[in-house]
Amino acid sequence: MENKIQKYTLTAITLHWLVAILIFALFAIGLYMTGLPTKAELPPGAESLRKPWFELHKSLGITVFLLLMIRVYWRVTHEPPPLPDFISHAQQTFINIAHKLFYVSMILQPTSGLLSSSFGKYPIKWFGMPLPKLGWEDQSLKELFSDVHEISAVILATFIIIHLAGVAVHVLKGNGKTILQRMLP
Ligand code: HEM
Ligand code: HEM
Repeated sequence: MENKIQKYTLTAITLHWLVAILIFALFAIGLYMTGLPTKAELPPGAESLRKPWFELHKSLGITVFLLLMIRVYWRVTHEPPPLPDFISHAQQTFINIAHKLFYVSMILQPTSGLLSSSFGKYPIKWFGMPLPKLGWEDQSLKELFSDVHEISAVILATFIIIHLAGVAVHVLKGNGKTILQRMLP
């Protein structure tokens, strides 16, 4: 008898891919914008590109934060489909724990960014709309949360690499279609 592939709900699938695309974009923008010269490093009169890129990074980062809130709500109210039988019990336990830690890491990333910006001197805007700051101007707290943002980016990138390696292993074993279709509409 043919085994029917059990899929995530369309909402979970949409949120997974939307968040994945935004996280990839945020890594690219984050690394690019921090390398841009500041106004002081440029010849007199030249405008730095840091401001628009930082604002875009923050806006997209806040969007990810909001999407993650919906995603966590959806995840706790909707049991994910059971993993296929060809994945051993031990592996299933590992995957379940890893996915939960993945969520923690995903949430820590925008939260640390928000906190770091909340203790900085610039206003926080969401696509031009000013947002209330969660903190006050404090250089040492800003630096602390900036460090957390940087370290958590490395942790998140590690999770993403492990995640993609996991999917790749199933593709190489010939089970890629079954696994990928769980997360495809
Ligand atoms: C930033 C990038 C990504 C993040 C943060 C991410 C995160 C996650 C998380 C947390 C889950 C568990 C979902 C749950 O149980 O609620 C998941 C599942 C999954 N992801 Fe990703 N993902 C990313 C990129 C990708 C990519 C590029 C692929 C395809 C190559 C992929 C394929 C899958 C598949 C197939 C599942 C379902 C696994 C299962 O069978 O349970 N993901 N992802
Ligand atoms: C999932 C969401 C996010 C990802 C993947 C992400 C990723 C990154 C990366 C890779 C960098 C460059 C490395 C570093 O210096 O830390 C960076 C820098 C930065 N990010 Fe994010 N970020 C996210 C969300 C946010 C949010 C929500 C904010 C603020 C509202 C923010 C504000 C900043 C700022 C100000 C920097 C410059 C360095 C600093 O002062 O910490 N990020 N981000």
